[in-house]
Amino acid sequence: MVQHLLAIDDVADDFEGILRWAIEFKRLWKQLDEVALNFMPLDTLAIGSIYEKPSTRTRVSFEVGIQRFGGSALTLLKNDIQLGKSESVADTSQVLSRFLGGITYRCFGHSDVEELAKHATVPVINALSDRHHPCQAAADLMTVLEHKDDLEGLKVAWVGDGNNVLHDLMLACAMLGIDIHYACPEGYEPDADIVERTQAFAEKNGSSVVHTTDPVEAVTDANVVYTDVFISMGEEHMKDKIKSFEGYQVNETLVGNMAEDWSFMHCLPAHRGDEVTDWVMDHGNSIVFDQAENRMWAQMSLMAYLINNGAWDAMNEFMGLA
Ligand code: CP
Ligand code: NVA
Repeated sequence: MVQHLLAIDDVADDFEGILRWAIEFKRLWKQLDEVALNFMPLDTLAIGSIYEKPSTRTRVSFEVGIQRFGGSALTLLKNDIQLGKSESVADTSQVLSRFLGGITYRCFGHSDVEELAKHATVPVINALSDRHHPCQAAADLMTVLEHKDDLEGLKVAWVGDGNNVLHDLMLACAMLGIDIHYACPEGYEPDADIVERTQAFAEKNGSSVVHTTDPVEAVTDANVVYTDVFISMGEEHMKDKIKSFEGYQVNETLVGNMAEDWSFMHCLPAHRGDEVTDWVMDHGNSIVFDQAENRMWAQMSLMAYLINNGAWDAMNEFMGLA
């Protein structure tokens, strides 16, 4: 059966293994390890990436990661293809499945990536929808694992909109038994079904999921604070929304409530001066550019896992992670 990645809990069973693999592969690749450099699980495969919205990190990290894995990357911008003009998502999916080894899709409505996956005979990876951003969460938790020695008692705080990035972050934290406390203003909470899924993982793994409308309460003694833009792509017409986020800026005063080892995270692009100040973004405790880099390593791991399972097993064995 073809396995897709539409939300991060689609890979719940092997999530930590996928992240450990990414960390180890990154380390070996940077040491110019011959086996890592020559690991080509996408050799002979073309991976197509459809974008309905702009992207810097996702596009570049997929293109470079696919090339490093020996595959060819095809970027398909919405304006250049028939999708949404004279062709449906379902027909596009069946056509692309005849050529490609995998499809990544950045779309507006989450139902579109679900529809693409429903009709695809190759793995589909959600490269951001209005509801989920699983590749971001994989890179984020990889970054947390790299920076924090012990996950026991680790507290991640979210301050901002209850959006696509929070949805997968909260699921991912709970999947690893990390406490997640989120401060979202009234009316901008995460979707109830995703909170429920998060709570189920947290219960299983002995961690907490706490909602508040008070950013100070969320960040107190937290080890990580994460924020994102208040107005996401596709919400440009909702400029007034920003008024609800007064007091939600991550700044020097707010991080003063955090644990001594505090780290700042952001999926980027950041709107400096809105949800975060320059002081926090440029501080030594800001790990936002590690997150950005890790998009590539985490996605390479996900592609090895989803697109070429044989290679995934062999590579785990090679690195002693089997
Ligand atoms: N974080 C993220 O997805 O960035 P891009 O929009 O640049 O891809
Ligand atoms: N929440 C943001 C994330 C961008 C990477 C958006 O959807 O626009």
